[in-house]
Amino acid sequence: MSNSSSLQRRRVLSGMRPTGKLHLGNYMGALHNWVRLQDQYECYFFIADWHALTTDYADPSAIAANTREVALDYLAAGLDPEKSVLFIQSHVPQHAEFHLLLSMITPLGWLERVPSYKEQQENLTGKDLSTYGFLGYPLLQAADILIYQPDFVPVGQDQAAHVELTREVARRFNQFYKKQDTAYTFHGSNNNPAAPILPEPQVLLTPSPKLPGTDGRKMSKSYGNTILLSDPEPEIRSKLKPMVTDPARVRRKDPGNPDKCPVGDLHKIFSTQETLQEVYEGCTTAGIGCIECKTWAADAIVSTLLPIQERRAHLEQNPGLVKEILCEGSRRAQARAEQTMQQVRTAMGLGPEATGTAQ
Ligand code: TRP
Ligand code: SF4
Repeated sequence: MSNSSSLQRRRVLSGMRPTGKLHLGNYMGALHNWVRLQDQYECYFFIADWHALTTDYADPSAIAANTREVALDYLAAGLDPEKSVLFIQSHVPQHAEFHLLLSMITPLGWLERVPSYKEQQENLTGKDLSTYGFLGYPLLQAADILIYQPDFVPVGQDQAAHVELTREVARRFNQFYKKQDTAYTFHGSNNNPAAPILPEPQVLLTPSPKLPGTDGRKMSKSYGNTILLSDPEPEIRSKLKPMVTDPARVRRKDPGNPDKCPVGDLHKIFSTQETLQEVYEGCTTAGIGCIECKTWAADAIVSTLLPIQERRAHLEQNPGLVKEILCEGSRRAQARAEQTMQQVRTAMGLGPEATGTAQ
């Protein structure tokens, strides 16, 4: 028997808020990495629709459609229901129960101190974010994570503080509550009574290359400078045309430097070594023009997205298939989440075992 089949694989959990169709920044910053992790780890990937509600509660009308778009992009990008458990957060009500229980032990100060709390309140000025739910955003995230007892959480730097809070909450929980020796702990990898109920997961920082948007700033939905995974080829080409370049290239005969140009950054991520070499050569000698250079960058992006768009088109024609994948994912996620919740309820003095109301 080979090692990989005899050993339990380590577990990974991550998710995204449903913000609508995903862009190249989401792909390079997360999805692309998740697709690779599937072959090495037992993976759980989900869409955090309750998290969308923490900011969009006054008008939740877009959340369902955005969730469907993200599901399509997950699958199109290569998340594979044969390898990973793919699901929607609100389809696994155990997350909400766990969030409630964790809220009992979480000091307010821990949540008020999370950097994104004040930042977002200041940035999203059109929304009233002085709500209970918004303050609890990172604790809901902690529940999302800890309920699967994962080893790793692959996220970008922007989420690292949330994973740190998650570890602190786990530690506090484990100090208060110890594993009870009940019939509930007989299966799963976590059946050693000395082991803590909630192992502290580690952040798996996604190495994310600098991915500029069409205005040269970081690609982000809020800047309106994105290239979507689902953008058709003509759209990609016309988005690249007005893209800013090295300001030193005022005229066609002025040489430039790809290291000072956002189009150069795109080449570094998406082009082959050969093309990249031609870009350096042509740019620094003014042998090529920026228009031609952008055409090559567009070619590289188009060919990266081609297989993703083919899969998306296939899925769009089979809504029943997507539905089935998500239903099956919820079933599997619920089963795993319920396993943790039985340990948690018992440890906190709840549930049929504790109250003597078991059937
Ligand atoms: N906060 C994450 C984001 O904005 C989404 C998220 C919710 C998440 N729960 C999670 C990410 C659990 C990783 C693990 O993208
Ligand atoms: Fe940028 Fe390419 Fe123009 Fe050089 S040739 S400045 S890399 S767009």
